[in-house]
Amino acid sequence: MIEYRPLKIALLGAGSVGSQVAKILIENKKELAMRVGAELELVGVLVRDKNAKRDYQIPENLITTTAEPLILSADIVIEVMGGIEPARTLILQALNSGCDVITANKALLANNGAELFDAAEQVGAQLYFEAAVAGAIPIIRPLRESLAGDKVKRIMGIVNGSTNFILDRMHTLGTSLKEAIAEADRLSYLEADPDLDLEGYDAAQKAAILASLAFHTEVPMDKVYREGITKITSEQVAAAKRDGYVIKLLAMCEKIAADGDDPEGISVRVYPAMIPVEHPLASVHGAFNAVFVEAEAAGSLMFYGSGAGGLQTASAVMGDLVSAAKRHVAGGPGLADSVHADLAVLPISRIHTRYQITLEVSDQPGVLAQVANIFAKHDVSIEMVEQSSKMIEAETTAWLEIGTHLATDKALAEVVAELRSSPAVEQITSVIRVEGE
Ligand code: NAP
Ligand code: HSE
Repeated sequence: MIEYRPLKIALLGAGSVGSQVAKILIENKKELAMRVGAELELVGVLVRDKNAKRDYQIPENLITTTAEPLILSADIVIEVMGGIEPARTLILQALNSGCDVITANKALLANNGAELFDAAEQVGAQLYFEAAVAGAIPIIRPLRESLAGDKVKRIMGIVNGSTNFILDRMHTLGTSLKEAIAEADRLSYLEADPDLDLEGYDAAQKAAILASLAFHTEVPMDKVYREGITKITSEQVAAAKRDGYVIKLLAMCEKIAADGDDPEGISVRVYPAMIPVEHPLASVHGAFNAVFVEAEAAGSLMFYGSGAGGLQTASAVMGDLVSAAKRHVAGGPGLADSVHADLAVLPISRIHTRYQITLEVSDQPGVLAQVANIFAKHDVSIEMVEQSSKMIEAETTAWLEIGTHLATDKALAEVVAELRSSPAVEQITSVIRVEGE
């Protein structure tokens, strides 16, 4: 039964995501009203260019280029414009006028989340953001609600679809990095600024959002360690495949225990790493996303699906909209996200990881011993060594592939630095972390 007054919905943005949100709101109006207990009335759609061609033909009378009256007339505001400004100012305006806000804007949340959550808390409004991480995959609500009584230990995710597509093409088809990037571009998988994907910025923003929810701690973007995929070579991908691994761009959020005088904290980081082919994340192909969560009581959980796409992302936005609308109908306070734990976000040097290092050396007696000594000096234990050699211009060149046991990233980085300056080493051809074992 629908007894509540119609709820007024303002949509800021009608691009890939916004036009699909408008379509669902208009075409599923009756069904949504039954689910919510109130009609959801789209009262206006903010765009830059009224005449732009859109994926869904939004009624002309709803389109506007003036934000303020639209926001002031709304109960709930959906922000799918992207970028920092004017999205930040408009969301603050909406929250300060008592509207609940739904956003898909990972960049804004990662950079200005604390300010927006404070503003929401001041007025008892609610900020929803399921679509900001991993598109259609429900991961924010599980962390915010379903796991709220558990303790998350670690999150390991593939949260950027375009880089997963590129690395997957390199692994499965032997495509070069350059060709795979061009293919991703042709399929419109890459952001307008491709470095956001390729250099790991997009994944780092998503990692910051996930870590802040999982560990109840504010995570400033400048504390998120980030490496992209632009230095990954076909040779590294092929060597990993030969050894039973696959290279993925991972977003890792992890609780780190105190170590002597070093305090406990969390590590939030993004880098390409080798994972065993048996790991659940290894079978995430193409532009799909997946998030692997390890919690104390729940154990291991895997969330998988489409991490992008207008319609898929609109599904997550609509889920938030129905929750926000139900809250209006039922009344009562919203969820407040707590940052009470206030853990330190630790530097990369504090994590424990494993490295796989490939060195070109001259095939002389004593070379292996010199190399092994460098590892021993930094207390890094070697798990395996494989040697291959080839005659090049009447000299035998050897390649050493060395896999380490777990060690601190600090010690492993020191080993690599010393190998670089060692006369026993001609060149280091690959250094990559190994995760998920
Ligand atoms: P988009 O296609 O570029 O659309 C942006 C929309 O916002 C356009 O309608 C644009 O108007 C409007 N807009 C931008 N700046 C404006 C301004 N200053 N004033 C008024 N209107 C403005 O973006 P999108 O792909 O839908 O992404 C929207 C948000 O969702 C972003 O935060 C993005 O990170 C997030 N997201 C997207 C995906 C995805 O697969 N696309 C997935 C997950 C999350 P015009 O149409 O007139 O230019
Ligand atoms: N550029 C992002 C990706 C879009 O490739 O996953 C979704 O956030």
